[in-house]
Amino acid sequence: MGTAMEHTTLQRLIQDARTILQDNLHEADGKLFVMPSGSLYPAAWGWDTPQIAEGLYADQPDTALRLLEDYLSYQWPDGMVPHIVFPGIGHGEKFDATAYFPPPHVWYMTGDSIDDYAAASPDSFMRHPDYAHTEGKTTGIAQYPIWALNLRRMHEQRPIPPKRLEKLVEQLDRFHRFFHEQRDPEGLGIVAEFHPWIGCDNAPPYDKALHRIAATATPEELESIHRQRVDVKKTIAAGGDPSVRPTDEDYVAFLKIAHGLARAGEKRHRGEPVTTDDIPFVVYSPMLNGMLSRAEDDLALLARAAGREDIAGQAASRAGKLRQGMMQHLWDGEGFAYLDGKTGEKENVAFLGSCIPLLDEKLPDNVRDGLRQQLRERFQDGFRHGFATTARDNPARIAGKAGFEACYWRGPVWLNMNELLAPYSDNPKTIRDDALGLAAKEGLREYYDAETGKGLGADRFGWTAARVMGWAKEALHETAQQKTAHGRFSERIIGESANEHHRSRA
Ligand code: DGY
Repeated sequence: MGTAMEHTTLQRLIQDARTILQDNLHEADGKLFVMPSGSLYPAAWGWDTPQIAEGLYADQPDTALRLLEDYLSYQWPDGMVPHIVFPGIGHGEKFDATAYFPPPHVWYMTGDSIDDYAAASPDSFMRHPDYAHTEGKTTGIAQYPIWALNLRRMHEQRPIPPKRLEKLVEQLDRFHRFFHEQRDPEGLGIVAEFHPWIGCDNAPPYDKALHRIAATATPEELESIHRQRVDVKKTIAAGGDPSVRPTDEDYVAFLKIAHGLARAGEKRHRGEPVTTDDIPFVVYSPMLNGMLSRAEDDLALLARAAGREDIAGQAASRAGKLRQGMMQHLWDGEGFAYLDGKTGEKENVAFLGSCIPLLDEKLPDNVRDGLRQQLRERFQDGFRHGFATTARDNPARIAGKAGFEACYWRGPVWLNMNELLAPYSDNPKTIRDDALGLAAKEGLREYYDAETGKGLGADRFGWTAARVMGWAKEALHETAQQKTAHGRFSERIIGESANEHHRSRA
């Protein structure tokens, strides 16, 4: 774990982070967006955007707010904030198949088999009822609702102008309501993930569900997916190991779920009830529910600041309902489990996401104590760089060639997760300084091997840059304070000894 860092290294990290965030900004459709990374993710993502905006806020407050506002202008009529926005593509156009896979039109295709998506006829997606309002520029799912957390921290740093704050609060209120209205198919009081691309694509808790879906794939479908995958080609071209990415089986399942959701969307538009039978993947996770209950409380604070007591009251009561539902359906006495809504199976799979309810500071003390212990014992102790995303005792961890510590959401260290959870660990500064050490040595990468610290995945990664910028500024500030304190101390000592000298001579 890390040690205090040189002044010049911290300044270099801040400068690198600034350059990356600036370079990843782009304008299209008269709006401002930020890419997670120009190399692997050339569009705008739904949980990256607010995390990056927070990083930009100190230097460029207006740009940061525009990023949030412009992304939210693609919010769906049901309140969903889409997982990806592909700005700049026109009606009926397809996103460049060599730049990213899969392109957005897959979210409007209702077949059940893997297609050649670059060759798909516009007729196969443009007639979908959701295509009309999105113009095909967005995907059909949401990502983790981290927006209110980031916005609250931005507002605390420097108050957001009242009118802009109120509009953002209204949009986030609709986003949160979307989860309760559209993602609680059994009325459990907790909300479900309908696709792993909500944020932790190939995390071990999804293994069984993904395997069940991919089991129906033909060899031709697997071959077709392999041929179309741009992420693997780009990883190899950059000299990386493709086994740090999800497998082709995972991708077959990702695509089949997308088609299933497009079919469910058509059904909803026909006015027919949509049940869990219509949704291929239904997972109630502590990560989503814990983050949403915290986000509801943050939204309540923001709503109060914007003079919207109505929204504040509703958000706080939604948070209470989630808390109760989590304890009833996901708490197993020792930790939070993932619940598969298709099979009813509940498993505490030792994935770092199971500690995310720590963000909800209103959960009972004994629950929070248990989670702190899990965070330390399962995800920190015994790893050189913490927190690892998958505990060593997780039997489901399957190593890619590069080792499980290196495979995407199956083990590596993600700095945004570190930053969210560090305040609840025994040693937040050690986590921070270690993360800064990784960034200084390996660059601002998407994730890092939990054992060797090697930088992996996309380079020049936005939310890593945002986190590193915040942490490096904090560390610099501390060094400056220590210097001042040391300076005062030295001045006092020098002063005292000078007086003594003076006295002894007198
Ligand atoms: C990807 O392309 O790997 C993303 O995680 C999908 O959101």
